[in-house]
Amino acid sequence: MDKKDAISTESNTAKKQKNTFSGNVGYILAVAGSAVGLGNIWRFPYLAAKYGGGIFLLVYLILMLTFGYAMIISETAIGRMTGKSPVGAFSAFGSKKWLKFGGGINAVVPMLILPYYSVIGGWVVRYVAEYLRGNAAEAAEDEFFGSFISNSFVAEICFVVFVFAAFLVIIAGVKNGIEAVSKVVMPMLVILAVITAVYSVTRPGALEGVKYFLVPNFRDFSIMTVVAAMGQMFYSLSLAMGILITYGSYLKKESDIEQNTTRVEWFDTGIAILAGLMIIPAVFAFTGGDIKTLKAGPSLMFITLPKVFDSMGLGNIIGNVFFLMVLFAALTSAISLFETCTATIAEELGFSRVVSSLIVLCVSLILGTASVFGYGIWSFVRIFGMQILDFFDFLTNSVMMPVSAFFVCILIIRVIGFDGVAKEVKLSSKFRRQPMYYIVTKYIAPFFLMIILASSIASALGFITI
Ligand code: PFF
Repeated sequence: MDKKDAISTESNTAKKQKNTFSGNVGYILAVAGSAVGLGNIWRFPYLAAKYGGGIFLLVYLILMLTFGYAMIISETAIGRMTGKSPVGAFSAFGSKKWLKFGGGINAVVPMLILPYYSVIGGWVVRYVAEYLRGNAAEAAEDEFFGSFISNSFVAEICFVVFVFAAFLVIIAGVKNGIEAVSKVVMPMLVILAVITAVYSVTRPGALEGVKYFLVPNFRDFSIMTVVAAMGQMFYSLSLAMGILITYGSYLKKESDIEQNTTRVEWFDTGIAILAGLMIIPAVFAFTGGDIKTLKAGPSLMFITLPKVFDSMGLGNIIGNVFFLMVLFAALTSAISLFETCTATIAEELGFSRVVSSLIVLCVSLILGTASVFGYGIWSFVRIFGMQILDFFDFLTNSVMMPVSAFFVCILIIRVIGFDGVAKEVKLSSKFRRQPMYYIVTKYIAPFFLMIILASSIASALGFITI
């Protein structure tokens, strides 16, 4: 029996004892739930505004359909082929050191993202609470956000509430927890997104913003447009974080990997575009077309938008709808991070699911609390000149993510082989984009990943501005 057959038999045995999704719909919604998150609603619109509006969107779409597609297919196929989460999946192909490292880094990234992602999730919890209490005007005040995050006690409570919510879903299991929550929350999210976008684009003066966001202007193109779009694509599709390997390991052999991938890509991009339509035209209308406000970055969602909502008359209602949607999006993404960490610990250390998830909870509470304090009582702490939360964000997305994606590509090129991937995908798919998959994974991806890594580090060290 050769190595690949052995893996396939092993995987079948593993599947018998393992959780699986009940079917395609549950799987797609769970993967889409992981993909659609703060990245779509908070990060995508400000990056789009910063990097030229329509041209950014065009570059993003091209990357998503080529690069994004290839990476999703690779990770899902590795997961389904081995029936394991990242560490086990990589070591299923041998015991070489680089395989251990590749699996290890894919597993460590989600453990480092979950805590700080949950801190931001906690901020969203606070805004939901304020809008539910009818405090739209307070939330729109200049100092509201700053004084909230520097109050370590309140911020910590919000963070803990968010992490616990994710924990409870994980305890309930893949089918009864992740899938059940995704099935309810994702359709609600779409409805809320459409309501907010329609409201926003119909404000007086909003049409200019719609044009800026949707119509490409080639004069706005720069190489940084590509670098920023690429980084965003990885983040938004939850790539290179072991998540799709883990979710792929729960996928049944008869599920069509290619079709699912296409659906998830479009779902994720659709929500990002809707978020752009919610935010860019509204801010345009509010500021009279001042692009600088849109480029504000992180503060856009928590400081500028509440002001925009408050000025719209229906501030409380629309603020409620908007932040509730953000909360759903953030929660399903956090769940996917939590699940990957839990599955890795359960598989590698042999603990039960409950014990494993408790370990993840404890690590998250410790690291997340450090991030919370970094904006409050520990605000004097700087790591490479960054606040604690920003440092975790930088370390995971700008440094570790390109490296872990690189290892996924090398695993495919050097060990599994394109035929191995094609065999797995073709168990249930036509694999129409196979030639493109081949070219992207073999020639383009490793090169581009190194460029992202180099440019992110250069930008962190202040050599270039991204
Ligand atoms: N894809 C999610 C988003 O766009 O917000 C974020 C995310 C989830 C990133 C899970 C990483 C991750 F592992």
